[in-house]
Amino acid sequence: MHEEIADLIGAMQRLPGYRCSTIGMRDYHVGNYQQQPCVVVLARIGKVAAAVTAVTLIRQFDVDELIFTGLAGGLADQCRIGDIVIASALAQHDLDARPFYPRHEVPLLGRIEFATEARLCTELECAARQFLGSEARSPARRAVEAAFRIIDPAVHHGLIVSGDQFVGDAATAADLLIRFPKALAVEMEGAAVAQVCHEHGIACAILRTVSDRADGNAHVDFGSFLASIASNYSDGILRQFFAARRLAAPYQQGGGI
Ligand code: ADE
Repeated sequence: MHEEIADLIGAMQRLPGYRCSTIGMRDYHVGNYQQQPCVVVLARIGKVAAAVTAVTLIRQFDVDELIFTGLAGGLADQCRIGDIVIASALAQHDLDARPFYPRHEVPLLGRIEFATEARLCTELECAARQFLGSEARSPARRAVEAAFRIIDPAVHHGLIVSGDQFVGDAATAADLLIRFPKALAVEMEGAAVAQVCHEHGIACAILRTVSDRADGNAHVDFGSFLASIASNYSDGILRQFFAARRLAAPYQQGGGI
């Protein structure tokens, strides 16, 4: 969402070498962040939107790693509003090419799940834990979180399922959990990005902030959650991620994200 990347883009725009390329109704912001080359773009919503954005990043901008951030609905009991979920693997819950292929299997690729890149996930998980750690967040931030009943946000790592559907009722959430008992959260893009990255041999990681319970059990004002929680989390975690990389390899000129 725009709110999640606005600060990151603002920081890139203030540095020399920044440029913006518009392709297929998306603005690709190209430049440097914390001395590391990167491309930042709003992928829009849904699997098609995310897939074409990922392909463009790979083919037009030659990125060699891809990080996707956004919101998700919590499916597993332990995934509460305000928690972070980092995908170890993703599957498309709405893909069904039966009787020719088993339910959920991606035709011709012979698999249901697409794994993310372990090292990238570990780096993101460290960044998320650092950001959410007790000293990192000010009392003011904690007060904002408390307004959403977020007390001690956790970081989870596991399966995320994606589909072109907002899930917000108990029956659909229960059905998803029958089909994917290990699913932590549901969203609308990640599995498409993971498939594109698999097909192109690109490392990817998907990080989600839980904005709602997919069973419809907890309601938040989406707009204000995005503005005051999710945008702060995505920005803070990415800032931490880039800072850690800069410390680890201060003079390295790697590929772009
Ligand atoms: N993104 C955020 N919450 C979601 C939900 N409940 N279903 C699908 N995508 C989401």
